[in-house]
This record gives sequence, C-alpha cells and structure tokens, in this order.
Amino acid sequence: MNTYETLLVERRDAVAIVTINRPKALNALNAATVSDLSKAIAAIGADPSIRVVIITGSGEKAFVAGADITEMQAMSASEGRAWGRLGQQVFASLEALPQPVIAAVNGFALGGGCELAMACDIRIAAENARFGQPESGLGITPGFGGTQRLPRLVGAGRAKELLFTADVVDAAEAYRIGLVNKVVPVGRALEEALAMAAKIMARSPVAVGYCKAAVEVGMNVDLASAIAYEAELFGLCFAAPDQKEGMTAFVEKRKPVFG
Ligand code: CAA
Repeated sequence: MNTYETLLVERRDAVAIVTINRPKALNALNAATVSDLSKAIAAIGADPSIRVVIITGSGEKAFVAGADITEMQAMSASEGRAWGRLGQQVFASLEALPQPVIAAVNGFALGGGCELAMACDIRIAAENARFGQPESGLGITPGFGGTQRLPRLVGAGRAKELLFTADVVDAAEAYRIGLVNKVVPVGRALEEALAMAAKIMARSPVAVGYCKAAVEVGMNVDLASAIAYEAELFGLCFAAPDQKEGMTAFVEKRKPVFG
C-alpha cells in the first residue's frame, strides 16, 4: 500500500484500514490530510481486492476533532469556498466508493470529523465518542457536507438543533438519534468494525455493491426513479455468478462460497 504523510493505510486480508494520523492535533483535517485522503480513496476504489474499508483515528482520544482551525483562521471568502468544495469532493468520493465503508469512531468526531463519519456507510462508536457540529460557535457553517448529511441521518429538527446550538452529544445520545449504528466499549470500535466487515465479506460482493448503489442513488432521487433503479440492479444480479451460487447453495442446504 502507498505511504502518506498524515494517514496510515494498512491491509488486514481484504479490509483496508485508514487511520487519520495527527494525534497531537487530535487528527484535525489539514490540507495535507484532505489531499492524502483523496489519494488513498482513489487507490482503494481502484483495488477490487479490497472488500471493506474502515476509517478510524489515531489514539484513544479522537476520531477527528474537525477541520484544522489554525489553517482556516486567516482564509478569505474565496479560499473558504475552495476549501469547502475540496472537502466536499473528497467526502463524496469516499461515499461513492464501491466498497462498504465503516467509521470506527474512537473519541471526538467534531465538525469535519462528524462530517467524515457521516460520509461513511456505517458508524460504530466507542462509548467515549463525542459528536457535534461546533461550527456556529466558530462563526462558520459546517463546510464538508454536515448541513446536508446530518438532517438526512437524524431528521431536520434534530439536525437544526445540533447546528444552531453547537451541542456535543455522547455516544449513547448519538445512537438514540440514529447518528450511529452501534456503541461499543472504549478500545473496541476497530475490532467491532472488523467483525462487521467479516460478516459483510461472507455475503455476495455483487449484491452488497448493488445494495450500496441502490441506497446511495435512491436517497437522492424521487421514489419512482429509485424503485426503477432497484429493479435494474435486481435484474443485473441474475447476470452475475453470485446469484447462481447463492440460490444453488440454499437448495443444496450448504453455505454459499462467493468469488
Ligand atoms: N484544529 C486544529 N487544532 C486542533 C483542533 C482543530 N479542529 N482540535 C484540536 N486541536 C489541537 C489543539 O489546538 C491542541 O493543540 P496544542 O496542544 O498545540 O495546543 C491539541 O489539538 C489538543 O487539543 P486540546 O488541548 O484542545 O484538547 P482538549 O481535550 O482540551 O479539548 C476538544 C478537546 C474539545 C476536541 C478541543 O480540542 C476542541 O474543541 N477542538 C476543536 C473542535 C472544533 O471546533 N471542530 C470543528 C472545526 S471547524 C470544521 O470542522 C469546519 C468544517 O466543517 C470543515
């Protein structure tokens, strides 16, 4: 795997683990991190031997404590717009990866860190995880998709409350409002993400990929178009060997073995 200034990228069999690695700045996303993330996401997307991606932060204290405030402090309006667009593009490319992406949230996930977690498909939070969009306290809006992905996950009313108040919520509250899928003991987020990855990898990669595409596309178009898209993907499954193997295995009362 490639090496990066601000990321650690490692393989555990078919899983790629991407660790944001600036622990002294609580893994805050500076320009170098966003650039590294962009390159790592492109490399992962081009590697079909990677079946699941896990994103986490270095150390026990933070997943990512936001975009780097020291870098944004002196930005002009046009620089701010360009920075926001860059982060949005990189997070959109993460969301568009063909592989499922799990965030293992091991501490603070604030601002850009909460936005990074929300751009992942699934969020597993350690009990010490803290989520929030504190930007209104800094005189800015969230800039890496937070104003859009947060209401899609927790509903407009709860999202507006979090955006307006800049409140930080703990893992239990994040679970209650649907921001995270699961809460696990401190130190267990990565292991739980790996366990979920193993479960996903026992399923048909074709079917999992199409399920991801159906949800991603479907959530952004009207219901009739989304349902029509589902029918296309459902049909395409029957052109792939996984459907033959999955259904033959059922009939033969054995576990399927997908390629
Ligand atoms: N940017 C730059 N540096 C950061 C940072 C950030 N977002 N978050 C933490 N750090 C740095 C601190 O400045 C500190 O550095 P020094 O040791 O050099 O002083 C180091 O990380 C450790 O942080 P603290 O001493 O503050 O640790 P703490 O335990 O007292 O507090 C915290 C932890 C509550 C997470 C606090 O660090 C904090 O509030 N961080 C900022 C959170 C934030 O506002 N994030 C949103 C950023 S804006 C954004 O993300 C915009 C967007 O949508 C793209």
